[in-house]
Amino acid sequence: LAEVPERADGDPPPGPDLVRAQTARAPVILLVGDSDTGKTSLATALANALLAEGHRVGIVDGDVGQSEIGPPTTVGLGCARGPLRRLGHAELMAMRFVGSTSPLQAFAVTVEAMGALVERGLGAGLARIVVDGCGLVRGGLGHAFACATIDRVRPHAVVVLERANECESIVGHARSVPGVAVVRLPVAPGVRRRTAAERREWRARALAAHFASARAVRLSLGHVALRAVPGPRGAPAPGGVAPGTLVGLEDGAGETLGLGIARDHDPGGVTLTVSTGVPAAAVAAVAVGREVYSR
Ligand SMILES: Nc1ncnc2c1ncn2[C@@H]1O[C@H](COP(=O)(O)OP(=O)(O)OP(=O)(O)O)[C@@H](O)[C@H]1O
Ligand SMILES: [Mg+2]
Repeated sequence: LAEVPERADGDPPPGPDLVRAQTARAPVILLVGDSDTGKTSLATALANALLAEGHRVGIVDGDVGQSEIGPPTTVGLGCARGPLRRLGHAELMAMRFVGSTSPLQAFAVTVEAMGALVERGLGAGLARIVVDGCGLVRGGLGHAFACATIDRVRPHAVVVLERANECESIVGHARSVPGVAVVRLPVAPGVRRRTAAERREWRARALAAHFASARAVRLSLGHVALRAVPGPRGAPAPGGVAPGTLVGLEDGAGETLGLGIARDHDPGGVTLTVSTGVPAAAVAAVAVGREVYSR
């Protein structure tokens, strides 16, 4: 595994084939790049190429806003059962609620969820895992996020998509980790930027689809633990869970089963009613997030 050689001007933009050649034996491949650099498209092409070679292929979707695998506010693990027309067509294997659609608000939990789901996928026998990052690369926080992700996920290859040299310091970190191959690519000319409105619309649609079969479920807090998703703004107000708050419903093993929308937290704190597609009997814990969902 080596770095991609310098390209001459006029060379066609490198695509999945080149990335494939450069990451041939890497079980875990992490894609890093700013928003709208073609990460998800490359992840999809790479997953399809690996599948065509006969590997069992998993994808970890670390984008908690423009989520493809699992709803927004989650990191998802999917596996490719057949060629994927888009990343979201991977079969959902597991997800982790992080409580926010912004990695800035859920920095540590998002990094941890990505690492845990990669381990989960490898443990389940997936031979190759492609990790699609979240687009947080700029500034001190972007650097810290990408480096923390590299340290936690421990990829064998890091593929960096860049417009200019915005990932220079992240590449420096990746190169300092023993055993990591770094592949650095320019953004393909055709890559299109999504507007803020398109991103909002995507999140709204994905959440609406997730809640399509939701109904009111009353959880008894004598049996179900209530906790806050950890993050920079601390725990939710002790007065109760505000109506509309997105929550993650977990089983006894701490797996996120699905999302809920808090409806009514009775004043005595004895029950919490949520709209969800998850059956009440499966829920052992509720993780309270930071997003309020209205529809
Ligand atoms: N190599 C390519 N050639 C032409 N168009 C592309 C290419 N890669 C991606 N695109 C298009 O550019 C847009 C953005 O691509 P993509 O969603 O893969 O980027 P991303 O980095 O994952 O974005 P996000 O920040 O939203 O996660 C999409 O409309 C996609 O179809
Ligand atoms: Mg993407």
